[in-house]
Amino acid sequence: MPSDRRVDTDLGGVDRVGAGSGATHGFGPATAGASSAPRFAPFGPMLRQAVADGYAVAAFNVYDLATFRAAVAVAKQTGAPVILALGERYFSLMRPRTAVALLRSLLAEAGAIPAGAIPASAIPASSGPVVGLHLDHAASPEHCLEAIEAGFSSVMIDASHLPFEENVRVTRAVVEAAHARGVGVEAELGGIAAGDASHEFSTGTEALTDPDQAAAFVAATGVDALAVSVGTVHGLYRGDPHIDLPRLQAIRARVDVPLVLHGGSGTPADLLSAAIGRGVAKVNVNTEVALAAVRRIAEAVAAKPKTHLSELTGIAEAAAREVMADYIARFRWRGGTGRGATGPSEGRASGEAGR
Ligand code: 13P
Repeated sequence: MPSDRRVDTDLGGVDRVGAGSGATHGFGPATAGASSAPRFAPFGPMLRQAVADGYAVAAFNVYDLATFRAAVAVAKQTGAPVILALGERYFSLMRPRTAVALLRSLLAEAGAIPAGAIPASAIPASSGPVVGLHLDHAASPEHCLEAIEAGFSSVMIDASHLPFEENVRVTRAVVEAAHARGVGVEAELGGIAAGDASHEFSTGTEALTDPDQAAAFVAATGVDALAVSVGTVHGLYRGDPHIDLPRLQAIRARVDVPLVLHGGSGTPADLLSAAIGRGVAKVNVNTEVALAAVRRIAEAVAAKPKTHLSELTGIAEAAAREVMADYIARFRWRGGTGRGATGPSEGRASGEAGR
C-alpha cells in the first residue's frame, strides 16, 4: 500500500457508520445523521445478528441504477437487512463516491428517519430499509481505501490468490485502515471455482478452505467475516451443486467470525439452508439477478423493437427485484421480526457500536 494513501483516522466530515437505532434488528434501519445523510448498517453487528437468529444476509451485486433501486426496494419490501455490493470490477461503471451518494439518496427517498427526530427505540423496523454498502472482491488495497474513505460500511480485500502469508499481510493492512474508520472487513481464504457465465475474477481453480488455516488466518488478520470455499462456484453450476457441509462445520468449529458464501446463484434452497445452519451469515448473489434482467429486457425489445431506452431500467429493476426477493426467502429470513428460521436466540447485537 503506498504510504501517501495512509488513512486519516480523524473522522471529521466523514460519516462514521454507526450502530443505528437499536430497533428490531439490533442495529436498526438506516437513519439520517446530523447532515441528513442516511447511514448504512454496520457490517459486523448485521452479520452477528444473522448468526444469532439463524438467517443469512443477502449481498447483491450492484453497478447501475436498476440494481441499486431493486436492492433498496427489496430491503424495504421484505424488511430483511440487505448488503449492496459494488465489485471492484465495476469501478469502470461507478466509483465508490458515486455509489455512496446514490445509496444515501435512495435511502432518503425510501423513508429513512432523520436521527433525533424521534427516540431511537421508537423507530419501527418498517421505517426504512436496513442496508449496508460493501466493496466486493477487491484485489487492490488502494481500492479498499477508496471505498473506506468514500463511506462504505464494509470492504472485501481478496488476496486469496496469494500465498497464505501474503494474504495475511495484505488483509491485515486493510483491516487496520478499515477499523480505524469503523468499517468492517471480509477476506477470503481458499479459491472458488468459476462456473458458467461467472462475472467474478477467478483463477478457475477450486481450493477448498482448510479449517486450521482458517482459524490461523482470522486470528492473524482480525477480519470481521471470512469467505470460504466449500463447493459453491461463481456463476452457474455446470453439474449438480455440492457443498462440503462437514468442512463448513469444521471451519465453524474453529472460527468465531461469521462465514460468507460466495457464488449463491443456482444454489438450491436446501443446501443454502444447511450452510446457514452452519454459520454462514452472508450469501453473495450476482449472476442470476443479471441474467434475469437481461432476459426480460431481451423479451421486451423483441416484443417492441422501438422500446425507449428509459423503459429498460424499470424492466431490469422489476426482474432484479423478483430474483432478489426469491433469494432472501431462501436465506431463512422469516419476516420483519429480525429472526430467522431458528427463531430468537441470545447474543443479539443490539447496542453494538461501530463495524
Ligand atoms: P454468483 O454470480 O454465482 O451469484 O456469485 C456472486 C458472488 O459471489 C459475488 O461475490
